[in-house]
Amino acid sequence: MPSAHKTIPLHPVPVMSPAAGGRYDHLIRPDGMVHRTVFTDPEIFQQEMRKIFGVSWVFLLHETEIPDPGDFKTLNVGLRPVIVTRDDEGQVHALMNRCSHRGARICADTHGNSKRFRCPYHGWSFKNNGELSAVTYGEGYPQSFDHQAHNLGRFPRVESYRGFVFGSLNPDVEPLLDWIGPAREVFDWSMDSPLKHRMRVVKSATTVFNANWKLQNDNNGDMYHVPFTHRSVLTMVRDRYGSGKSLDHFRSDQSPMYVSDLTHGHKLIDQRPSLKTPWDQAVPVPGRESYSQKLINELGLEKAREFLHMTGRAGINLVLYPNIVVVGGGAFNVYEPVAVDKTLVHLYTVILEDAPPEVNTLRLRFAEDFVYTGNRDDNEVFERMQISLANIPEMEWVDFSKGLGTDREQLQSDGSVRGNISDETGMRAAYQRWKELMSSDITTCVAL
Ligand code: FES
Ligand code: FE
Repeated sequence: MPSAHKTIPLHPVPVMSPAAGGRYDHLIRPDGMVHRTVFTDPEIFQQEMRKIFGVSWVFLLHETEIPDPGDFKTLNVGLRPVIVTRDDEGQVHALMNRCSHRGARICADTHGNSKRFRCPYHGWSFKNNGELSAVTYGEGYPQSFDHQAHNLGRFPRVESYRGFVFGSLNPDVEPLLDWIGPAREVFDWSMDSPLKHRMRVVKSATTVFNANWKLQNDNNGDMYHVPFTHRSVLTMVRDRYGSGKSLDHFRSDQSPMYVSDLTHGHKLIDQRPSLKTPWDQAVPVPGRESYSQKLINELGLEKAREFLHMTGRAGINLVLYPNIVVVGGGAFNVYEPVAVDKTLVHLYTVILEDAPPEVNTLRLRFAEDFVYTGNRDDNEVFERMQISLANIPEMEWVDFSKGLGTDREQLQSDGSVRGNISDETGMRAAYQRWKELMSSDITTCVAL
């Protein structure tokens, strides 16, 4: 029996080549529609690795991850293998993990301490500041051989803010603080300890999902999905602990909470106007009762509560474009694109150096809490989206229009734009940034 449905073309537009002439404007429409190939096309993905992860400032590490001379950490920036080192004088260097001879990756360890790196192929050695130190059988090279031209390549621009080290392969990139822009205030709020503790960053787990990295970037600015995607977590928390815990404050689209486009593609979900204190909002985690009682016994109620308020992590999602999201209490995640349909997420927590150990244990437990329950829901949805976007080419557009042109969007004096808590304001701003970077003609380079 024939179907009773009529055939109605959805969004009838001509089928387009993904990136005609190397320009990308037509993939991001002013009405909030984004073309599906932005998430599925391997060629676009390769260009993102060059243009977004090369041209923008990108987070490398926190200085406390390599505290001592000789410490190093390896990572990928986009797909580029990188070593970040602290040299014998204490200076930080962001180097390409690529031998200047024939290109082998010279360091396979994730982190460690070394004065030198020796290439596994023909044995050339490099100091931990990137200088070529020894060429094996060097007498075989012509007199014109230029040692300095064979140092490891390095990021031409490296800057840090509050110990967060960022690099860019665009020598003319704007100063880091200009790039952070209006996001700085809420970044500081997340990192500040009211009691002025020194902070130390520790990396915990790495998770993986089989979908495009931008689905994670979108999601970190998306409060709309919470009552639906995370329904099982919300129900479990309410059944066990009553109301007012975890994400229970988001029950309605009407609230004083908001999302924000913070310029440069950065975006914010700000839940603070509807939250109790982080401690009161936090769900019970292992040790909550015994540790809090211990602190109260040792410090008295008032002082103990000051510390306990530093343990929950609710309050914000601050996404610095392209790939770091900071939440309350300094915890943050970094997404690492691996392929057009595969992404790693590295999870980090901030330890307060001279706080009571119970405080830091609770910070770690809270940092794990939603990651190991709620993030699974998100990953499941990302993978469902990736499959549909990749395999139903007849439906070309993804809709990010919620809040567009409504009076719920308001320009602030610092240039940011606030929208209603469930609006897609920040996501649209991120795609405008994507379009700018992808359509730019900036050439990336390394220094020697
Ligand atoms: Fe490194 Fe030859 S590739 S020494
Ligand atoms: Fe989520």
